[in-house]
Amino acid sequence: MIALFDRLARPLLRTLDPETAHALALNALKLAPLPGAAPDDDKLRVQAFGLTFPNPVGLAAGFDKNAEVVDALFRLGFGFLEAGGVTLQPQPGNPRPRLFRLDADEGVINRLGLNSEGVEAVAQRLAARAAAPGIVGVNIGANKDTADRAADYVACIEALAPHVGFLTVNVSSPNTPGLRNLQQAEALDDLLLRVIDARERAAVGTRPRPLLLKIAPDLSLGDLDDVVGVARRHRIDGMIVGNTTIGRPNLRDAAAKEQGGLSGRPLFALSTRMLAETYVRAEGAFPLIGAGGVDSGAAAFAKIKAGASLIQLYSGLIFRGVGLIGAIKKDLLDFMRIGRLEHLANAVGRDVAAVTAEPWPG
Ligand SMILES: Cc1cc2nc3c(=O)[nH]c(=O)nc-3n(C[C@H](O)[C@H](O)[C@H](O)COP(=O)(O)O)c2cc1C
Repeated sequence: MIALFDRLARPLLRTLDPETAHALALNALKLAPLPGAAPDDDKLRVQAFGLTFPNPVGLAAGFDKNAEVVDALFRLGFGFLEAGGVTLQPQPGNPRPRLFRLDADEGVINRLGLNSEGVEAVAQRLAARAAAPGIVGVNIGANKDTADRAADYVACIEALAPHVGFLTVNVSSPNTPGLRNLQQAEALDDLLLRVIDARERAAVGTRPRPLLLKIAPDLSLGDLDDVVGVARRHRIDGMIVGNTTIGRPNLRDAAAKEQGGLSGRPLFALSTRMLAETYVRAEGAFPLIGAGGVDSGAAAFAKIKAGASLIQLYSGLIFRGVGLIGAIKKDLLDFMRIGRLEHLANAVGRDVAAVTAEPWPG
């Protein structure tokens, strides 16, 4: 059924403007009579942030910004989902065109600018399915024109925490001017103080929700020292490394000139290096989710060996289709068999020394 979905839908989607194709894909997911995914092999199970993930393959933020197709996405075989980015107030984002497919590079550039239906609509949808199975996190951003960004995150956490498995504080979207400044030590310190307080207050009679920080792959290593130091002091539960890049490494496609954040295959090397650099600095204080250019089982396993306990993908779906999810899981089981690994956890961080010794990717 999933192969059929790919065979019918992808050739059509590739001919359309990317944002129209995305809207159509969301509609197809709402309507397609997808059967439930087969249960995952126990060997793929991952424990992280106090949660048990049936497999390590997650959907990255930005695909289901308004949490419209969560249950259909689980039927594709994901081990967890991240809905959002959500902003406190609804906002339209940047004018179109704002999403570009770089076919020659298997990359994507987006400057959506956190278009969101707003936290109320998203919280309602997530509340309606909160008892259904599957780990759904939510990615939180700040409105473009807000006066107090930290207050936006706090209000979103208050509204969303009761309905989700984890919360991601996104301080790394490149398309909201000034947002990434929240990664600077002093601003991050203040932000984490306030968001952690909010998630504690939101946990009435329940365990506080795991709080993750999503960072940009464009940080300098000095800035990364600060970010990880502040994150450790505040005892956050994990980090996602990372968001899209404002860099343009060796691209061939004419659309490379577009402004925005680059994702997909051209992001793999930089994001994997930053993941390994983060792993070294975290010293096991919290687990990491690796995102950026995962489009095969080998790429997913490389992220794990560079320090990721879990991985997320988005752009790979555009170029490889939804069959990618099952293919990665199958390949991971093969790699585990070949390497005689009982658990994926045994491979986490195994290649960090080698990855961080390579010349800086560019
Ligand atoms: C169209 C698009 C929209 C995105 N929106 C968000 C977002 O709202 N919040 C966020 O943290 N990341 C967002 N991202 C970044 C992805 O979650 C992910 O970190 C990045 O694309 C790298 O993964 P990939 O190479 O597998 O796509 C978006 C990415 C794309 C392509």
